[in-house]
Amino acid sequence: MPPLWALLALGCLPLGVGVNLQPQLASVTFATNNPTLTTVALEKPLCMFDSSAALDGTYEIYLYVLVDLASSRNASVQDSSRTPLSSTFQQTEGGRTGPYKATAFDLTPCSDLPSLDAVGDVARASEILNAYLVRVGANGTCLSDPNFQGLCNPPLSAATEYRFKYVLVNMSTGLVQDQTLWSDPICTRRPTPYAAIDTWPGRRSGGMIVVTSILGSLPFFLLIAFAGAIVLSLLDTGSSDRETTHDSQITQEAVPRSPGTSETAYTSVNRGPTLDRAEVFASKLQD
Ligand SMILES: *[C@@H]1O[C@H](CO)[C@@H](O)[C@H](O)[C@H]1NC(C)=O
Ligand SMILES: *[C@@H]1O[C@H](CO)[C@@H](O)[C@H](O)[C@H]1NC(C)=O
Ligand SMILES: *[C@@H]1O[C@H](CO)[C@@H](O)[C@H](O)[C@H]1NC(C)=O
Repeated sequence: MPPLWALLALGCLPLGVGVNLQPQLASVTFATNNPTLTTVALEKPLCMFDSSAALDGTYEIYLYVLVDLASSRNASVQDSSRTPLSSTFQQTEGGRTGPYKATAFDLTPCSDLPSLDAVGDVARASEILNAYLVRVGANGTCLSDPNFQGLCNPPLSAATEYRFKYVLVNMSTGLVQDQTLWSDPICTRRPTPYAAIDTWPGRRSGGMIVVTSILGSLPFFLLIAFAGAIVLSLLDTGSSDRETTHDSQITQEAVPRSPGTSETAYTSVNRGPTLDRAEVFASKLQD
């Protein structure tokens, strides 16, 4: 039997690609980590309302957000006179009691869209993504300000299914001109058990910590070993120096006593301590 979290995660997956006129999740090419725990990036409704004819006058797109509950599945975002609702995140308990207006933006005319070819250009990427995508849950500023009056687009709840709707508002009348269908349910990410427990800022796994500490202490051990090697080699050089000096003194003393063998004495000094000592011993015996 699969673990419980796997079943829950499957139950919360977006249910297929929707009809033409539904808000869609942003393409994975532009938003790799989407949805997150608290945000959902959607494609803006570009060339949707003005696909057949250019709109004249000023228009805005309102984005409404609704938690996917049976009771509010077909909620309307306008009153009987077609005035768009202005309910906020706080008034609707974050979309649980009804749709709230999360954000509004100007409609970029279909003919004016920036070319996606330039999206690799770091300087322009953010501007281009802003033209194509809108991120729900991106700004929590309004929650910390009790007197906040404007539009509030605070973080969404994790592991919750949301639906989204775009509304075209004619700004000269302030009325709803057109609207998309509600999107299919889109589920924010579920916190993994691990991410919920781990509060260390580095967010490293247990294995990584072990590897890191081994790697971290390796230079220390190398340093100790290196220092040890230096000390040993100093001690070693010191003692062999003393031996060599001692030996050559004795050899030089020994030289005059064996006239005609100065060449032998010279070679013996260069032959190393052991041989030298043997020779010195021999010359001492001659004494
Ligand atoms: C949703 O609302 C629209 C218009 O208000 C209506 O035509 C449609 O039948 C409703 N659908 C459901 C499933 O209630
Ligand atoms: C968040 O919203 C506030 C108030 O509307 C605004 O001043 C601020 O610039 C926004 N921050 C971001 C990152 O969009
Ligand atoms: C928007 O409102 C203005 C003013 O009432 C109107 O002239 C215009 O036709 C409306 N736009 C559309 C697309 O109906």
